Amino acid sequence: MNVLVIGGGNMGMTYAEAIGKSNFLNTGNLMVYDKSEKKLAELRASGLFEVHEYLSTCLPKADVVLIAVKPVHAAGLMAEMKPMLSAGQLFVSIMAGVTIDTIKQGLGVSKVVRAMPNLPALVGLGMTSFTASEHVSRLELAAIERLLDTTGRSIKLPTESKIDASTGISGSGPAYIFYFMQALMDAALKMGFQEEDARLLVGQTFAGAVELFNSSDLSPEDWMAKVASKGGTTRAALDSMDDNNVNALIQEAAYAAFRRAEELGAQTKGKEEGAHA
Ligand SMILES: NC(=O)c1ccc[n+]([C@@H]2O[C@H](COP(=O)([O-])OP(=O)(O)OC[C@H]3O[C@@H](n4cnc5c(N)ncnc54)[C@H](OP(=O)(O)O)[C@@H]3O)[C@@H](O)[C@H]2O)c1
Repeated sequence: MNVLVIGGGNMGMTYAEAIGKSNFLNTGNLMVYDKSEKKLAELRASGLFEVHEYLSTCLPKADVVLIAVKPVHAAGLMAEMKPMLSAGQLFVSIMAGVTIDTIKQGLGVSKVVRAMPNLPALVGLGMTSFTASEHVSRLELAAIERLLDTTGRSIKLPTESKIDASTGISGSGPAYIFYFMQALMDAALKMGFQEEDARLLVGQTFAGAVELFNSSDLSPEDWMAKVASKGGTTRAALDSMDDNNVNALIQEAAYAAFRRAEELGAQTKGKEEGAHA
């Protein structure tokens, strides 16, 4: 199988390096194309894949094409790709808010997987949700899952609406965790800790709690009950959060991201349809 990654930016490079380092493909079967001169030089230094500066030298050879450019560049790129495509090629898009229909129409193809990764993919701990058009076979899906899993773990979802929902949980989620971390760092600094010590206290606390959570089937509530005892310090903090409705506010934030993902998808689709009208 020949895989082409289009767009060697943060995410494209992450995928290309992860796939290149895995045993999934040989170096000769992995290609990266980018149009930025500066990016091409960086990509060539990696040595894990073939680097192409022209679509015409790589796109016709590809069985799977991973599209990792910004959504704003999607329409122009797809117009450029369309005359060079051949039957049977499969397209995986990680472009936020760009729907499967938009890609099917833009490229005139039927096999499309839409995936939503998240930032920890950079360190191999990504969470990617994905869904596929009906023409993608089970065998092809299994191969795509292996490809996505080179950056962490993945989950196949039944609909694109669920991809938008997962954007509100795992896609945008790392930022909510950083928000919570920042709040705890701010509290630590106010309590008089040096920045370096605050970083250690907060970072190691998150890492430990996450490790505990992932190492058992206990729910977050079960773990809270293990830390908090009646009349104790943790109970005081949790009661304060409950009194201030923090749980409901975090849920509302996740829904805000979900709604925004739906809005962005509708906008991109509207623009594409306008361009083809
Ligand atoms: N970053 C995340 O956490 C995250 C999470 C989920 C999904 N995503 C999605 O991942 C995609 C990539 O994001 P990113 O942060 O990696 O973007 P990025 O760093 O800007 O990378 C995109 C790369 O594609 C190049 N490019 C643009 N148009 C092109 C074209 N027509 N042909 C070939 N290359 C082209 C860009 O070059 P120029 O710089 O010259 O334009 C750039 O090198 C986005 O669609 C985003 O929605 C990102």
